Formats: sequence, structure tokens, C-alpha cells
Amino acid sequence: MEDRKVIFSGIQPSGGLTLGNYLGAIKNWVKLQDEYDSYFCVVDLHAITVRQEPKNLREKTLEVLAIYMASGLDPDKTTLFIQSHVPAHSEAQWLLNCYTYMGELSRMTQFKDKSQKAGESIPVGLFTYPVLMAADILLYNADLVPVGKDQMQHLEFSRDLAERFNNSYSPTFKIPEGYIPKEGAKIMSLQEPLKKMSKSDENKNSFIMILDTPDDIRKKISRAVTDTVGVIAYNDEQPGIKNLINIASAISGDSPETIVARYSGCGYAQLKSDVAELVVAELAPIQEKVRQLLSDKSELERIYKLGAEKANYTASKMLRKMQKKIGLIPR
Ligand code: AMP
Ligand code: TRP
Repeated sequence: MEDRKVIFSGIQPSGGLTLGNYLGAIKNWVKLQDEYDSYFCVVDLHAITVRQEPKNLREKTLEVLAIYMASGLDPDKTTLFIQSHVPAHSEAQWLLNCYTYMGELSRMTQFKDKSQKAGESIPVGLFTYPVLMAADILLYNADLVPVGKDQMQHLEFSRDLAERFNNSYSPTFKIPEGYIPKEGAKIMSLQEPLKKMSKSDENKNSFIMILDTPDDIRKKISRAVTDTVGVIAYNDEQPGIKNLINIASAISGDSPETIVARYSGCGYAQLKSDVAELVVAELAPIQEKVRQLLSDKSELERIYKLGAEKANYTASKMLRKMQKKIGLIPR
């Protein structure tokens, strides 16, 4: 148990989750939980870097946790928790803030994008967001951090920060590595298949939400943008078809080649309708479980309390170590 590698990841409860979140992140985490000592967090403190409606934030936080569980993350194998339930994250962030430079945070692509959208009043939280993310990761001595490409810059920063702290005192943190899963790495927009599928897309037909109804899923996939080639093949000239094949492959586990061979001589409509049924069949049991979990919150409560206890134990040990090295007097 003790020498297993540690994995940490999290998703923000700021809106619903997409098929991209599911196939690109959660479905892979489910496989990782057997092999690794894993922590999967609902990062509510990151979500409030942009304004959230309190009721909505509460609902979405529980919904993300319910989706984690319904997708197969098993509280007996992994630690599932809500970030704000472990105060060490905020405390460690303060400490790490003092080792972070304005310059390096100013260079973060996500900060540049989001602060532009924020206009005149840019919350400081948006600026120090990567420091909280570093605290998340370093508190658990994570070896591997599964994240999308867009988060790699933040992960690099966490590594720099860990090294800086280690060099200032003595080895304290493990240097975490990014982890890009082999399967389902990137699910693209159904409308503009060169763009990543994202819930912030204005065109609602471009993404599938994990909790979309079967009819909506079928409609969105039948409207997916393809091409005029007319032959089902797996290549970059046909990004729409490639994306549908990737979705089928991530769900079924069949390789893209196997899928292409199966559709030799078939039209796009056949592929679309089969992919739609695959997605519906994959998500239906998850949706049912999410409904159950949300209808009576006692099981969710039990799990997030258990998770907070486990996470607190590990995180406060590391926090005390940091405090001690810095020269703060132990309680
Ligand atoms: P986000 O919802 O963009 O904050 O992403 C949370 C995590 O979900 C990311 O770190 C990715 O691993 C994953 N993810 C989000 N969108 C996609 C996508 N379109 N394809 C694959 N993975 C995705
Ligand atoms: N910033 C990540 C995202 O938007 C979410 C996140 C917060 C995270 N803390 C983390 C991911 C720690 C991995 C590890 O996707």
C-alpha cells in the first residue's frame, strides 16, 4: 500500500461536466484508482475565482461528486473530497504565495485569457489560482497529475515552486509529473472538430453534457459536422469523423482501426447513429446513479466526510512539515 505512487486531480464545479470531461478525465481515473494511491477532488475554491451563484455552486459541487461516484470512482479505493473541506489547501496556498513571483503568474495563459474577460475588476484569486493548484498537488506528494493540455503550464509552475521550496530548505516535496492518458485524450467540438469540446462554447450543439437526455445526445450527434469525403477513415483531413471514431474508441475500448474496418462501405449516418447509441448506453446508468445520489444526499454526505477526513490527515502532515521548515512555531 505505502509505496504505491500517488495521483491527484480535480475538476471545478463551475457548470456541468461534458463528455470531454468524462472520456478525457473521469473514465481514465476509474482505471487508475486500482493501481495508484489516488485523490480526486471537487475544486470548489478554484471555481470561486469567477463569481458563482451560491445555490448553483452548492448544487454543482454535489453534482460533480455524484458524477465521480456514479462513473465508478470507489470511495473504498480512492479519496473523494471537496477542496474547501480541507483547510490545509488554503493555508498552504498562503505559504506558497510567499515563494511565488508576480512575473511567473503574469505569464500564465489562462490568467491572461480570464483576466481579459474580467474587464476592469480582476479578482486577485484569478491571479493566484495556480498557487492554490500547486498547494493541492504538493500537499499530497503527488507523483502524477492527470490534466488536460491547457493545465500543463500550471503543472510546470507547481514543479518550479516545489523545487524552489526544496532548494530553499531541504527536500520537502516530490516533483509532480503531468499524466496524459493514452485513450480519450481529447474530445473535440461536434460543430467545429478542430476545437476542444468545451461547455463554455456558445453553440450548445457543440458539446454533450454527461447529464444530457438520450434524445439530446442523439440530436447533437446526428448534427455533428463531418465532411464531403463520404468514406469512413481515421485521419486529420476528416476531423469530424475522426472525433466520432475517437468517442467510440474511448467508450468501447476498440482501436480506431478496428472501428474503421467495421464501417467499411457504410455511410456517415450509420456511424453517427451507432456512436449516439454507444454514448447513450454509456451515460444512461451513470445518469441513473447520479439521480439516486442526488435525491437522497445522505450517501454523498457520508462519502465527502470520509474523504475530507482521509485528505485532512495527509494534507495537514505536509502542512506542518512546511510550517516547520519555514520557521513557524509548532502548536
Ligand atoms: P475543464 O472542465 O476544462 O476544467 O477540464 C477538467 C478536465 O477534464 C481537464 O483537465 C481535462 O483532463 C478534461 N477535459 C475537459 N475537456 C476535455 C475534452 N474536450 N477532451 C478531453 N478531456 C477534456
Ligand atoms: N485547474 C484545473 C482545471 O481547471 C483543476 C484543478 C485544480 C486541478 N487543482 C488541481 C487539476 C490539481 C489537477 C490537480 O482543470
